[in-house]
This record gives sequence, structure tokens and C-alpha cells, in this order.
Amino acid sequence: MRVLVVNGPNLNLLGVRRPEVYGDTTLPELEERCRAWGAGLGIQVETFQSNHEGAIIDRLHDALGRADAVVLNPGALTHYSYALHDAIEAISLPVVEVHLSDISRRESWRARSVVSPACALTITGHGIEGYREALEWLAGGGPGHSPGTAV
Ligand code: DQA
Repeated sequence: MRVLVVNGPNLNLLGVRRPEVYGDTTLPELEERCRAWGAGLGIQVETFQSNHEGAIIDRLHDALGRADAVVLNPGALTHYSYALHDAIEAISLPVVEVHLSDISRRESWRARSVVSPACALTITGHGIEGYREALEWLAGGGPGHSPGTAV
């Protein structure tokens, strides 16, 4: 199984940016953990981070035929990017939405995810463990679950 792990805007600053909210693990460390977790689950993990909506959409399109599933933390694009919603819907791959923080318990504008309806599963507030849970769920045949499920 091949899984693409995508991190969106500002997540390149993990470890530096509000560690009390997002933790002190850096993006390279998180990506390395994802590769190691994946290896233990028989998943080949590829990683991608961009601060640009279009670059993320292009990478999702490229995943078609090259990945079996996607783990996606869209950063703030979560809350307003209908283009990202449509890209997720368009590629017809299972996409697990992951947020390090619990977006339901922060500013009111963060509580709404416009991408969730297109995602197979949403995991929020479990820190970097959320990425491991997403990979485990996919390795366990996750897409059998119904769209929009929140954990
Ligand atoms: C985030 C939550 C978003 O609201 C925020 O804009 C981020 C990170 C999270 O992982 O908790 O950049 O997606």
C-alpha cells in the first residue's frame, strides 16, 4: 500500500509555531515518524508539504494512480478551501483528514472543516499520534468506513 502524507500551509514551521498547540515535533521528524509507522504497517509513505493551495491540489491530482490513499492536514485551508474539497472528491482516493489540535475547541472559525465531507475519516486533537492512527486505519482497510466519520 502506498500512502501520500500531505501537510498544508505553515506546517513547515512545526516545532517552532505555537508548540503549546501543535507540539514540539518538527516537520522532518513527523515525516520520518510517518515513514517508520508506515513501514511497520506495510505502507510505503511519501510525504509532501506546501504553503500553496494550488501546489497541494496538483500533488493530490498526481496521487491518482500513484498512491492508494492520502493522509492530509490541510492547515488553515481546512476552513475555506472549496477547491481542496473538490480535489479530494475528484481523485476518488480515501483521504484521512488529520489535525494536530482539536479544531472544535479553538476559535469558532476553526470549528468548521469544509473538506471533511469529502474525506473518509477525520481525526482531530490527537497530536502527531493522529497521523499514526490514520495510517493504522488505512492499513486496516479503512475505506469501509462511511464518509465524514469524525474521531
Ligand atoms: C491545524 C488546525 C488549523 O486550524 C490550523 O490552521 C493549522 C493546523 C492542526 O493541525 O491542528 O495550520 O490543521
